[in-house]
Amino acid sequence: MKALNSSTPAWNRLKAHAAELGRTEIKDLFASDGERWRHLHVEAGDWLLDVSRQRITRATLPMLTELARSLDLSARIEAMFRGEPINSTEGRAVLHTALRSDFAGPPGVRAEVAESRAKLSAFTGAVRRGEQRGATGLPFKHVVNIGIGGSDLGPLLVCDALRHEWSGGITPHFVSNVDRTQLDDLVHSLDPAETLVIICSKTFTTQETQANGRAARNWIVGALGERAAGDHFVAVSTNAAAMDAFGIAPTRRFTMWDWVGGRYSVWSAVGLAAELTLGSERFEAFLAGASEIDRHFLNTPFERNLPVILGLLGAWNRTFLDLPTLAVLPYDQRLAQLPAYLQQLEMESNGKSVTLAGEHVDYPTAPVVWGAAGSNAQHSFFQMLHQGTPTAALDFLAPLKGSWGDTEPQDLALENCFAQSQAFAFGYTLAEAEAAMRAAGVAGADIARVAPHRVHAGNRPSSLLLYPQTTARTLGNLLALYEHSVFVQGVVWGINSFDQYGVELGKKLAAKLSFHGGHAPGEGAAGIGSLIAYVNAKRG
Ligand code: F6P
Repeated sequence: MKALNSSTPAWNRLKAHAAELGRTEIKDLFASDGERWRHLHVEAGDWLLDVSRQRITRATLPMLTELARSLDLSARIEAMFRGEPINSTEGRAVLHTALRSDFAGPPGVRAEVAESRAKLSAFTGAVRRGEQRGATGLPFKHVVNIGIGGSDLGPLLVCDALRHEWSGGITPHFVSNVDRTQLDDLVHSLDPAETLVIICSKTFTTQETQANGRAARNWIVGALGERAAGDHFVAVSTNAAAMDAFGIAPTRRFTMWDWVGGRYSVWSAVGLAAELTLGSERFEAFLAGASEIDRHFLNTPFERNLPVILGLLGAWNRTFLDLPTLAVLPYDQRLAQLPAYLQQLEMESNGKSVTLAGEHVDYPTAPVVWGAAGSNAQHSFFQMLHQGTPTAALDFLAPLKGSWGDTEPQDLALENCFAQSQAFAFGYTLAEAEAAMRAAGVAGADIARVAPHRVHAGNRPSSLLLYPQTTARTLGNLLALYEHSVFVQGVVWGINSFDQYGVELGKKLAAKLSFHGGHAPGEGAAGIGSLIAYVNAKRG
């Protein structure tokens, strides 16, 4: 039996350090170290990572990097980039980096990626120039991506975040959910003659995508005739037989590989909806941005390595400080979809409780990841973050300039972002609340009654990521940064970040259920027969 990572000396030192720090507050750490900010921020390229408002001392990061060294993090990173089968439960390499960095993966993989890129950009160019048209001869003005999870969240985020970089007159739409709402809305608003549909599914077996794909086919064929399907559909998948069965011609297929996980696949043909919307040049800038971070991750000492620091602090907050959630708070409306994207990336990757050696962990792994764009979030859930009972770890992110290029409205966003992270760290004491109320002339009895409600305990830890502007390149930087931070946390926890068996059981049960023709609840489906009978009875 292999020992758990929690039995290593480096881990135990961190445990003792966390217990000691439990009695210290962030504001005391600032008071006792005038050089704190200088020591607890890192600049790399045009990114700043400020971790001075984390619950750490100057000694914490060296202890965390010592843990990383004791777990052979460098060797693990290199193994991933080389294409070793580090996804051991599925016997697969993990090579999303090869989709954007020509120094990742074996030569055969790089050649396949180059071929796929050439095919994607030729198709993108032909559609955008109006050479590749619909069945009636009209150029495409709309692209509908039908996919779910990693086959949806990545291209959706890229399209939304880079709206100011759209060109070519193509509007993207996304259909993911198993209920028919999204597709129905589009069917009522789009002209099928001007619509290109992408069926995006690595496996091409996902129930939601299959159902929506069939419904979209019925819509196109119903409006334009059976032969139109050939012109209006393309597919992204690894599953040639299933694409044959759907009627997608070989010339209308874009390949994927089993060495790209769904949640890491936006850099592949899964990004086609975004590439059609932005053009290949901007999409390649997005890939180049990710490649910059790949190089940084691979070659930078841990002490100045952004994803390593972000990942180690993620593990510190979750495991050693026992903070159950991570709120992602981008101060840029362009990144409103980021929390949902990171939810899948972090929780599907590291939501595991068995180590690579098959042992049960005795420490908490992935936090619940959630969040929303600031300043909107300030007016919904920040109340709980400031004064509620659970303490959340917080990631603030903000561009220095707005996507429209102007600084002034972004000043307001930055002021709010900085003020909030300060309030979370430093809080507001009873004495401060009472003094402020006294200064405002409030009566003594009212001060005693209300002041306790105004107290902010503070000591809520946060990181802050600042970068120049949300562009194709910096978005590539950002997503790669989080991907690698997830990898680092997976190494600390000793788990396989690249399988997702936890999504299988519910899928299998759903596939066995039917509202028509009677139902025999299978093993583990006790009680569902009663629910189905109830629904059928109520529907009449
Ligand atoms: O249900 C989880 C999942 O397997 C994800 O990992 C994946 O991104 C998503 O479903 C979609 O899968 P596919 O691209 O094969 O349709």
